Amino acid sequence: MVRLFFTLSPTISRFSIYPGISSVLAATNTSLRLRRQHHQFKTKTPTLPLASPSSSSSPNFKRTRFYSTGARIFSNSNYFDDNLVVLGIETSCDDTAAAIVRGNGEVLSQVISSQAELLAQYGGVAPKQAEEAHSRVIDKVVQDALDRANLTEKDLSAVAVTIGPGLSLCLRVGVRKARRVAGEFSLPMVGVHHMEAHALVARLVEQELSFPFMALLVSGGHNLLVLAHKLGQYTQLGTTVDDALGEAFDKTAKWLGLDMRRSGGPAVEELALEGDAKSVKFNVPMKNHKDCNFSYAGLKTQVRLAIEAKEIDCKCPLSSTTNGDRRNRADIAASFQRVAVLHLEEKCERAIDWALELEPSIKHMVVSGGVASNKYVRLRLNNIVENKNLKLVCPPPSLCTDNGVMVAWTGLEHFRVGRYDPPPPAIEPDDYVYDLRPRWPLGEEYARGRSEARSMRSARIHPSLTSIIRADDSLQQQTQT
Ligand code: KG4
Ligand code: ZN
Repeated sequence: MVRLFFTLSPTISRFSIYPGISSVLAATNTSLRLRRQHHQFKTKTPTLPLASPSSSSSPNFKRTRFYSTGARIFSNSNYFDDNLVVLGIETSCDDTAAAIVRGNGEVLSQVISSQAELLAQYGGVAPKQAEEAHSRVIDKVVQDALDRANLTEKDLSAVAVTIGPGLSLCLRVGVRKARRVAGEFSLPMVGVHHMEAHALVARLVEQELSFPFMALLVSGGHNLLVLAHKLGQYTQLGTTVDDALGEAFDKTAKWLGLDMRRSGGPAVEELALEGDAKSVKFNVPMKNHKDCNFSYAGLKTQVRLAIEAKEIDCKCPLSSTTNGDRRNRADIAASFQRVAVLHLEEKCERAIDWALELEPSIKHMVVSGGVASNKYVRLRLNNIVENKNLKLVCPPPSLCTDNGVMVAWTGLEHFRVGRYDPPPPAIEPDDYVYDLRPRWPLGEEYARGRSEARSMRSARIHPSLTSIIRADDSLQQQTQT
């Protein structure tokens, strides 16, 4: 595996591009050094002689249908790695994000337009409104990513886009845009699994992080404990039987009447600093389940009841409430956060033991996804991980919450080993059916960790990423022998 270095500028400037819809645009300031470096390799990489403008049926491109067989021409080639430049597009939930990343891990640009006002208005993500907001800004976000990297589409080697899991309506906006760019400029495409992207962005940050490693991925919709064996191959040790922790943070923030514009998590984390974390007695979920699964629905109910018992009025903003009421809200926030994270700690401890039995060479545990930007979460999990003689790898907050860098980077990782689709046609038929995977498991379930409660409730819609890649690998082996 090629060693990478990380040069993402720590300064992220936020400014509004569409005051009318109150989008917030965040962009990394690409350093002059990066721009200079980029000019040195302006020549397009040799990835594209394979493609022709209407090359969907080109014999040079094997039709890969996202992660199936492709020509493995880039592996172990540092030269090609350094010259690859991938655009990543992310629209699976409420952030419209794009970024451009080089094969050696340099982030050339990062742009995010978040739906802050919509989030505050609806107290969560409303799919139709989110889709409209993505559609309004997607062209501008992608153009800004190109401009900030000082590139045009012609300089790209490939386009990576999140195809699932997520909200169909929202995924569609990103995939449509990615296909337009790829079709017009004859670029190969990589369909990215959103949760794999959360995990793999840690490899862009931490040079030592190689497979196998453990990962806890905590976002608004997922609470996953996985063992990453290799690129695209994961064993799912645990998941949530109901809600994810991010959802519990969001609801707690909403019921406490907090400002949701940055999503609920940061608001609860901030208020919790003022509170007594042992003042409200909440039960740690699933104490008697000797597995690695999570449940946050019951804790949410406990929080709601505590809020009702203290007669907290969520319509009254924090800024205009009494000192006593503010104190009550802070105590609930702190107590919720403590117990919610205790649940994470207990399950992570067990998952590390399981993972070390399966892969004794593991050295790292990645904690990523929006909730991993929480300082208390990081601190507590660092203790657990260190006690087990592992090293915690947490991407910086800007790469923990949804972003385009993680998609571009994951696209690069797969592209390098030949997993990509050929360029789509320059003009897509009106009735083209996009390959969207709103419910798409990442790994295969570890038998010991299976939860009856969950498997009865959630029907799988799409085969897991891991099963697709394993099937593809064995097909490759068969054709080679
Ligand atoms: O990964 P992400 O950006 O989007 C999804 O894939 O869902 O995660 C968003 C979730 C939200 O529920 C948000 O409240 C939570 O991450 N989050 C946090 C923090 N920052 C974001 N939760 C706790 N503390 C934070 N500082
Ligand atoms: Zn996410």
